[in-house]
Amino acid sequence: MLEPNPHAPSVAESLSRVHVIGGRKTPPAEGRTFDVISPVTRRKLAEAAFGTAEDVGRAVASAGTAQKEWAKKSARERGKLVAECGRLLEKHDEELARLVCLETGKAVRTEGRPEAAALADIFNFFGGLGSEIKGQTVPFRPQQLTFTLREPVGVVGAIIPWNVPMMLLALKVCPALVAGNAVVVKAAEEAPFAVLRVAEICAQILPPGVFNLLAGHGPECGAPLARHPDVAKISFTGSVETGRIVNRIAAEKLIPATLELGGKSPMIVMADCDLDKAVEGAVTGMRFSRCGQSCSASSRIFVQAAIHDAFVEKLKARVDNMRMGDPFDQVTDIGTIVSEAQFEKVQNYIRLGEAEEGVTVLRCSALPADPRLAGGLYIQPVLFTGISRDSPLAREEIFGPVACIFKFETLEEALAAANDTRFGLAATLWTKDMKTALAGAHRLEAGFVQVNQNRVVQAGLSYGGYKDSGLGKEATLESMLAHYTREKTVMLNME
Ligand code: NAI
Ligand code: MG
Repeated sequence: MLEPNPHAPSVAESLSRVHVIGGRKTPPAEGRTFDVISPVTRRKLAEAAFGTAEDVGRAVASAGTAQKEWAKKSARERGKLVAECGRLLEKHDEELARLVCLETGKAVRTEGRPEAAALADIFNFFGGLGSEIKGQTVPFRPQQLTFTLREPVGVVGAIIPWNVPMMLLALKVCPALVAGNAVVVKAAEEAPFAVLRVAEICAQILPPGVFNLLAGHGPECGAPLARHPDVAKISFTGSVETGRIVNRIAAEKLIPATLELGGKSPMIVMADCDLDKAVEGAVTGMRFSRCGQSCSASSRIFVQAAIHDAFVEKLKARVDNMRMGDPFDQVTDIGTIVSEAQFEKVQNYIRLGEAEEGVTVLRCSALPADPRLAGGLYIQPVLFTGISRDSPLAREEIFGPVACIFKFETLEEALAAANDTRFGLAATLWTKDMKTALAGAHRLEAGFVQVNQNRVVQAGLSYGGYKDSGLGKEATLESMLAHYTREKTVMLNME
């Protein structure tokens, strides 16, 4: 049972101490490596290449050369190749699902497989959009032909986090490639292997150099990537703090940046809702199966007074039924937190909440009983009620399985409280009343508002935050055109 998949550790081993540059496994220029630790065993899984400015230089040079030829292909042909990658990745879905769980501690049934499926889906989606990279004609004067072109920006730098690394990679790499750019990705230090494997698989289909992947740390590898003079666009997903650093670099260079940052998403539950559906929505919204490690986690739940206690009771019972355990066990719903740093961060918030006066702390589910998992970074899902709306737990992104539940009386009060945050990534509202639903949809300050459902980001749905949650959108045709092409106006005078 504890044996992940004899395959996954050997795949990780095969990608140890390398980047993927120019379509080939390439050792780090300075020969340095760092340990990637399993959050389940807390032992070293494998060593990853410690990328430095020199590796960034090599990858960007490779991308720059490859991009010139890549851009000469028709957009439709590029799309065809990206879709072909999608089909090949689909064939490796189980391997990739297990690999990402090996390094992140996520459960393979509830998280690894859905992520592998989303990865292939995003490649397929963008692969079909090649023909849509088109400009406009402008009826300026009869003797003048005026039109716009959508051209690639050149080499795109992408910096990704560890929570859903393959999916977040695809949301950047696919639109960039289809639009005619080459990409250099910097993986998160916690989870380099699944995305290295994705790059290695894609190298069987794509021309060498259009998709490069570097392992390494943020300041030593991510920052030099953003700073590199030949990187013409930067796309980042991660914390607000690092997003600001990256955006400052982009501002200095006068290049565009797309930023997908954190969240503290509200969920408003009206008394007239379908209670069971709302409870289920809180479970998926909070991403308890991913230990709450989601930027859009519904971590502030506002429940109308009349149903507050019933909601809390049902939610507690529902989460109690989730099983924490070995990520590779088919019955496991919840695996581990990704790293000791995240584990400590989340535990600190929980301790802070427990120390607040008048709070109720409901610990759900149960830590795994198997003694072989005793060292794993498991945290029981926690529901807090009675917490102050000014508490750091209610205001800051915890990125762990911690939900704060608040009681409210009126919709006005709930909307004001929901919007009283520096974040604005997602929001949900639960009601059977159409007027309430529409009022909420208009007034919730978030980039993604859902009524009576709580689905995750999908190819084809515009995704991106308001306020501190980010700049720019991802996952659609329009976002590909806006963020991965530049527009040229052409006027041909025939007078
Ligand atoms: P982070 O934002 O520091 O890391 C994300 C990526 O940025 C990683 O690839 C990292 O190596 C890179 N990076 C770090 N410092 C950099 C720098 N100076 N220049 C360029 N790149 C740099 O996030 P971290 O430290 O993994 O997690 C801290 C918190 O951030 C989490 O607790 C969570 O609240 C939030 N977070 C939000 C995510 C989201 O999806 N919006 C994803 C991951 C974390
Ligand atoms: Mg960080």
